[in-house]
Amino acid sequence: MWTKENIPDQTGKTILITGANTGLGFETALALYGAGAHVVLACRNLKNAEDALIKLYEPNGKGTLETGVLDLSNLSSVKQFADTFLQKHKQLDVLINNAGVAMPPASKTAQGYELQFGVNFLGHFALTGRLYPLLKETSNSRIITFSSNGYQGSVIDFDNLKSETGYDAIREYRQSKLANLIFSVELQRRIVAKGVKVLSIAAQPGANKTELTRYLSEAAIAAGVERLGEFMEPWQGALSSLYAAVSNEASGGNMYEPDEGGYRGYPTLATIQENALDETVAKKLWGLAEQVTGVYYPL
Ligand SMILES: NC(=O)c1ccc[n+]([C@@H]2O[C@H](COP(=O)([O-])OP(=O)(O)OC[C@H]3O[C@@H](n4cnc5c(N)ncnc54)[C@H](OP(=O)(O)O)[C@@H]3O)[C@@H](O)[C@H]2O)c1
Repeated sequence: MWTKENIPDQTGKTILITGANTGLGFETALALYGAGAHVVLACRNLKNAEDALIKLYEPNGKGTLETGVLDLSNLSSVKQFADTFLQKHKQLDVLINNAGVAMPPASKTAQGYELQFGVNFLGHFALTGRLYPLLKETSNSRIITFSSNGYQGSVIDFDNLKSETGYDAIREYRQSKLANLIFSVELQRRIVAKGVKVLSIAAQPGANKTELTRYLSEAAIAAGVERLGEFMEPWQGALSSLYAAVSNEASGGNMYEPDEGGYRGYPTLATIQENALDETVAKKLWGLAEQVTGVYYPL
C-alpha cells in the first residue's frame, strides 16, 4: 500500500500544481510542500491562490510556496502565466495538470469552446506546451495529467466542441477527461520518438469528496454515492497523482488509479481502454489543439 509516508524527500524540486486551492490539488500541494518541494499554486485568481498559501503555510515548513494566477478558460491568461513562470524559474521538475471543472451549466471559454473541453483539456495542452522547453531542460521532469474513470466509453465529438449541436453536461465532462488521457499518452509517444527523458503520466483519482460536485444537486450527489459507494477523503484521492509525480515505479504513458475498482483505495497501475489509445484520434486531437491554442510543442 503506497501512501503519503512513501513520498521521498522533494527538497530542491519545483512543482507546479494547477487548481491548487481546493480538493485534490490542495491535498497534492500539502503533501509535496510537506516533503520539501517549492510548490507553485496556480489558481484561477489571486485571492484563491493566497488563501491556499495561508492555509498551507507553516512557520517551519519544510518546503516553500509561491502563488500564480492562471485561468485555464482563457488562453491569454495561460500565456501570461507561462511567460511569467519562464522568466522567474530555471527549472520545473513536475507539472501537475490537476484543475478541472465538471458539469457546469452550458458555458464557453474565452475562445468559444465548451467550458469543460476548454479548461480541462485545451488550457492544459497550451500550458504544458508553453512550459515544455523548461521541462525538457530539467532532468527527470514529469508531466502529470488528471483523467477520470468517466473517460471510459466516451468519444471525442469533433463536430460539437463549441456545443454546435447541443450540450450535455456529463457527456462533455467525460469527453474532456478522455481528451486529457489521450493527450497524456500521445505526449509520451512523442517524447519517446524524440528520445527525450521527460515523463508524461496520467492519474485518475477515483471518487472523492471535493468541490467538483459544486454544480450538482444534493440528489444527484446522493445518487452518485449510491452507485459508486462512499467517496474518499481528498487526501486519499490525491495519492494516485502523487504516486505518478514522485514514485520511481511510475512510468511514462501509463495511468495510475485507486486499487479498489478504480474508485477507492491506494495507487495501482490502471488498464487504459482502447478509446484512449487510438492513435488516429490522438493525432487529430493534437492537431486541433495546436491550431486552437497556437501552441506547437518544441519536442
Ligand atoms: N473529485 C473526484 O471524485 C474526481 C474524480 C475524477 C477526476 N477528478 C479530477 O480531479 C481534478 C481535481 O478535481 P477536484 O475533485 O479536486 O475538484 P475541485 O475541488 O472542484 O477543484 C478543482 C480545481 O480546479 C480549479 N479550476 C476550475 N476551473 C478553473 C479555471 N478556469 N482555471 C484554473 N483553475 C480552475 C478550481 O478553482 P476554483 O476553486 O477557483 O473554481 C479548483 O481549484 C480534476 O481534474 C477532476 O476532473 C476528480
